[in-house]
Amino acid sequence: MVLTGRPISYWIDSTLPSSYPTLSTDIAVDVAVVGGGLAGVVTAKLLKQAGKTVALIEADRIGCGVSGHTTAKLSALHQLIYADLVDEHGQEKARLYGESNRAAIARLADLIATEAIDCNFERKANYTFATDEDGLAKVKAEVEVSQALGLPTRFVESVDLPFAITGAIMMPDEAQFHPRKFMLAIAATLPGDGSHVFEQTRVTTVDDESPCRVITEGGATVTAQDVVITTNLPILDIGLYFAKTYPQRSYIVGGRIEATQAPQAMYIGVGQNYRSIRTAPTDDGSTMLMVGGEGHKVGSDEATDERFQRLENYLQSTFGVTPEYRWSTQDMVSFDKLPYIGTLTPAHRHTYVATGFSLWGMAKSVLSAMVLSDRILGLENPWADLYEATRPTPFVTTTSIQKNLEVGTRWVGDRFKGLFDSTDSVAPGEGKLVTHKGSKIAAYRDEHNQLHTVSAVCPHLGCIVAWNEAETSWDCPCHGSRFSTEGKILHGPAVKPLDAKVCD
Ligand code: FES
Repeated sequence: MVLTGRPISYWIDSTLPSSYPTLSTDIAVDVAVVGGGLAGVVTAKLLKQAGKTVALIEADRIGCGVSGHTTAKLSALHQLIYADLVDEHGQEKARLYGESNRAAIARLADLIATEAIDCNFERKANYTFATDEDGLAKVKAEVEVSQALGLPTRFVESVDLPFAITGAIMMPDEAQFHPRKFMLAIAATLPGDGSHVFEQTRVTTVDDESPCRVITEGGATVTAQDVVITTNLPILDIGLYFAKTYPQRSYIVGGRIEATQAPQAMYIGVGQNYRSIRTAPTDDGSTMLMVGGEGHKVGSDEATDERFQRLENYLQSTFGVTPEYRWSTQDMVSFDKLPYIGTLTPAHRHTYVATGFSLWGMAKSVLSAMVLSDRILGLENPWADLYEATRPTPFVTTTSIQKNLEVGTRWVGDRFKGLFDSTDSVAPGEGKLVTHKGSKIAAYRDEHNQLHTVSAVCPHLGCIVAWNEAETSWDCPCHGSRFSTEGKILHGPAVKPLDAKVCD
């Protein structure tokens, strides 16, 4: 299979690398923020603005995780959500959901304006469109429900996309931006006056004491009154967030489009086979068109190349655009459709988390920062109760039972995979599970015929990893940890790499 786009996020490719130091000595601050994505960066910023000293600690580089691989739509129209929210949570909570997401977009816009950040922030309408009668009925229901909640949505019969639709819901005055430009600009304002940014510093655990202790892989610690964990899925298992959410992977391709041909708003289709569409102005004055979609549960599909292929074909056949970029990402989907923002457990008084953004993480990241900074500062927040992380959890919904059963099935069933294989059967460019002297091995043979073997047992909670062809990585189907072919962590919640294994 020949893919055209380069395998890198446009957001990362179009920004300079960052180079903050690694934490090497013990330090003390008011608040430690673990995770340098959008939620972490904005949380640290709001707290520093309020007079706190902060340490922002990132395992990789600022804005290179999920926040650097998104479509970066700032929206309160999350495909179709409001009819479901009213059904599951009632009118008032659904209203607060819309209100809080719109407030988060306004807060981000305010931050961009006051800090004079050049991050291609643009106000745009956002559409969810249907292309058949079934989708149309859902769109119309969403319009009715969202309008009853006071949201400024409208039904429209057509949009400026080059194919027919049956109808769409439109929310005006939403926004899009360049997320990494924004995150780098905010991160640059943090160091100094007792505050710090650290990169390439992996946090392995947090002791919720008075004060808290954040312990890093290299042994250095950060002592802090409060700790905020914004690592997509919390690195601490004790809150059981891995059982309240499931990891969903999705794909994006991008290429330059003639400005006269470019769609003017943001769009997403209805249903599982959706396409997510937006443009972005590039620094060389052209327009980048991005199309996302092809979502699936992490580790449930090895033929991920084919998903990129379908998106590249769509970009070319629908818009006449040659793919230049391709990248993928993943997010934790909350079973009750609300993110978890608050204390780690009822027993934790100073450790906070934000997770379960369910593929709409831009506004929710800023919302998390607003809620958690208010909590730490002792301020009332109108949405804190709605999103409280320790709220009763729907372990018994159809979806949660199914997904957690899948985890159990994978934990047991995947142990029997590769039982009769040997590494000889691994072809160049291929990754395969094999059994060697009773151990489950993840084996990858590179294009130079060199074999790379690591333990196939995920160090998080012991599931067996699965091969991801498009990303040349080992992905855990249970809670979304991902590893390189050398076993290095690419994505948590795991905080330890896959063990090295030698097949002699
Ligand atoms: Fe939880 Fe692998 S991510 S077992």
